[in-house]
Amino acid sequence: MLIAIDHVLSADDVRAFRRQLDHADWQDGAQTAGTLARSVKHNEQLADGSELAVALGQRILRELAAHPLFISAALPAQIYPPKFNRYAGGGTYGAHVDSAIMQIPGKQLSLRSDLSATLFLSDPDEYDGGELEIEGPFGVQSVKLAAGDMVLYPSSSLHRVTPVTRGARIASFFWIESLVQDDGERTLLFDLDQSIQQLTPDTQADDPRLLKLSGVYHNLLRRWARTR
Ligand code: NI
Repeated sequence: MLIAIDHVLSADDVRAFRRQLDHADWQDGAQTAGTLARSVKHNEQLADGSELAVALGQRILRELAAHPLFISAALPAQIYPPKFNRYAGGGTYGAHVDSAIMQIPGKQLSLRSDLSATLFLSDPDEYDGGELEIEGPFGVQSVKLAAGDMVLYPSSSLHRVTPVTRGARIASFFWIESLVQDDGERTLLFDLDQSIQQLTPDTQADDPRLLKLSGVYHNLLRRWARTR
């Protein structure tokens, strides 16, 4: 499932992020790529653990913790500390699949990447190119969202960022280990949860049909979720 989550950051937040990121100390992204990805990765990143990356990353995590659509879609067990990248001057990232297991920096913890997230911090009119292209069962989907919006997609999918030929594309990206590893099961839970949410305003809270649907949701989640 590929899902766009609007307004993770407000316009004011995006402006505050950009004031700091536009003058940040960007480093060659190839340093942190795996052997296979190194030859196709041409971008810049903020150093992991830098004061700015940590502060902005924590801000993003706070917003996500209070975002019902994100929680419903991702069912997060663990979230990788958000990273930041910048593509300009032809910068691109060729087709790749993200690593399955990520070591969380500074911790003796690893994370299985079930979902990949890109939070756009540049508006589409600021740059040409820079589309995130994701291969899925129905072909390639091209994603370029407003600043402050985020896309979630299965980490198992082949994806790429097309060359940025004008301006700069700044984004945050990170991975989520979900309580429900299987994308198909997670998608069913998401669809059921969203349908229940949409029925709720027009239905009495004690309506037995709503109670039953809600019970089915929780009992499927109980069946499929893996907690530590
Ligand atoms: Ni990737």
